[in-house]
Formats: sequence, C-alpha cells, structure tokens
Amino acid sequence: MNQKKEGAVVITGASTGVGRATALLLDKQGYQVFAGVRKERDAELIKLNSSVNLTPIILDVTKIEQIKSATEIVLSTIGEKGLLGLVNNAGILVDGPLEYLAIDELRWQFEVNVIGQVAVTQAFLPMIRQAKGRIINIGSVSGKISSPFFSALCASKFALEALTDSLRMELHPWGIEVILVEPGSIASAAPDKVEASLQKKLANMSPIARAMYGDIYKFSLEQLIKSNRMGIAPEEVANVIQKALEANKPKTRYFVSKEKVILNLLLMLAKILPDRVCDAIQLQDLELKN
Ligand SMILES: NC(=O)c1ccc[n+]([C@@H]2O[C@H](COP(=O)([O-])OP(=O)(O)OC[C@H]3O[C@@H](n4cnc5c(N)ncnc54)[C@H](OP(=O)(O)O)[C@@H]3O)[C@@H](O)[C@H]2O)c1
Repeated sequence: MNQKKEGAVVITGASTGVGRATALLLDKQGYQVFAGVRKERDAELIKLNSSVNLTPIILDVTKIEQIKSATEIVLSTIGEKGLLGLVNNAGILVDGPLEYLAIDELRWQFEVNVIGQVAVTQAFLPMIRQAKGRIINIGSVSGKISSPFFSALCASKFALEALTDSLRMELHPWGIEVILVEPGSIASAAPDKVEASLQKKLANMSPIARAMYGDIYKFSLEQLIKSNRMGIAPEEVANVIQKALEANKPKTRYFVSKEKVILNLLLMLAKILPDRVCDAIQLQDLELKN
C-alpha cells in the first residue's frame, strides 16, 4: 500500500531522462524537489516546466565542493525537518572492449556511477536520518548480467548493488530504507548520447583494436541504441521511484522493464544455467564466433 508523503527530495542527474522525469513528477505531486543538474542552462530549462517549489542545484557528483555547497543549500532551505528522499540517479555509460579500454575511462565510470553516489549519500545522510528518509539508488539490469563491451558499466552497476545491500543493513537500526530501482532499457537521452559518440569512439580506436573488435563493437552499440529506443519511457521509471518513496513497506528492489517477465526468467535461468550456456546465448545474439 502506498501513502503519499510530504517533504523534500534530492535527485541527481535531473537534466534529462529518468532524473528529469522524476523531478517533474515529484514536483507535480507536491514534494519539495531539489533537482541536481550540472549546467546553468539545464537549471533554467527544468525551472520552465516546474512549480516554484522545485529548486535546481548545481551538482556534479564527482565534485566534492559542489556536493558540499548543494548540501548547504538544501539544509538552509529545509532546516530541521530533514530529507525525505535522495534519488541517486546520475549515471554514465563507458563502453568498449576491455582489452583496449583506457584505464582512466574505467576509473571515470566508477567515479561517476559508484564513488559519486557514495559521496552524495554520505553528504546527505545526516538530513535523511533526521526525517527517517529513504535512499533510492538507480541500478540497472547491467548490475545483474554482464555483457561484452559493457564491462565498465556492468562492473559499476554490480558495485552499486553491493553498496546498496550493505548500506541497507547498516542503516536498518535507524529505519532508513535503502532501495534499488533496476531498470531495463529506457528510452531516455542515453541512446542519443551513445549514437552521437559512436563514430568518434570508432575513430579513436587504435588500428589494431579496430581490426579486432571494430565491427562487433559497433554492432553491439547499435543493438544497445535500438533496444534503448524501444525501452520504457523515463516517466515509467519515475512512477516506480515514487512508489519506492511512498510504499509503507517498500521492496528492497524494484525491477522495471518492458520485458519484465522475460528478463526475470532470463535472470532466474542465469542463476541456474552453467556460465557457458549463458555466454552462448549472448554470443549468439552478437554473432561472436571464433
Ligand atoms: N538508459 C537506459 O537504458 C538505462 C538502463 C538502466 C539503468 N539506467 C540508469 O538510469 C539512470 C538515468 O539514466 P538515463 O537513462 O535517464 O540517462 P540520461 O538521460 O543520459 O541521464 C543521465 C543523467 O546523469 C547526469 N550526469 C552524468 N554525469 C554526471 C555527473 N558527473 N554528476 C552529476 N550528474 C551527472 C546527466 O547530466 P548531464 O546532462 O549534465 O550530462 C544526466 O542528467 C542512470 O543511473 C543509468 O545508469 C539507464
């Protein structure tokens, strides 16, 4: 059963996609929303579509001074009442064959998708504790099954699953819920970003990397773009986030996907089938043969 609650919520990565949809939905529902964006232009844009209760805050989750000033803004606005929710939504996709993935790119994937989430959570936890609020982390089906060429993303989302599980138990004594929302493909801004950078990525590969992986890597990214564009709308993920925020007894995980039944079945099978059988399914899809 859900109960509408009133209070303040911070959402990271609210310029586009799930973050923006969640910020606008919760604003509409009467929450006091702090929408984290990285650019002034995005702050102006979200303000155009929201009520006076929505406050954009400049928040790059990798910049400790921005995290600090964001917490100061939120604290000075909400005072003693505390924070009802923190939605750790900001995320990026780093892809490429692991053999040639620049170590700095791998680090950056973790900096944004893992370290940044923890830094933001630590900073807002005192305010969350005050209101016995909730932390909602946006994971992914990529945190359940690893795929070729998405090792960095999958590793970051697997890490987020582990962090969420540990934190949920650590915060249990205070009644603070830590929840994972795990979407499948989403028709957000993400596929456009992947498409826009695809040619550049291929051009930046060394000739030897391109010769070995170029075609199949391009094919997998095209598959990802296609499946994301056919995915669920960010607004549907936002509805699930609202549910996680308001449920009297929230689930620890909310799986949200257009192909929920099939994906659930595949995830179940992945647990019982031998690794090589699961590999074969993915390799066949990608026509990866030796
Ligand atoms: N798209 C999918 O199919 C899919 C599937 C499963 C899970 N997810 C997860 O869902 C979440 C939202 O993704 P989306 O699909 O809505 O993608 P999106 O439209 O690309 O949104 C990503 C958001 O993260 C922000 N961001 C990137 N780097 C940041 C940083 N260093 N600090 C703060 N914000 C940063 C972006 O801001 P800028 O505009 O400033 O770059 C943007 O607002 C992510 O955690 C993603 O991993 C997505």
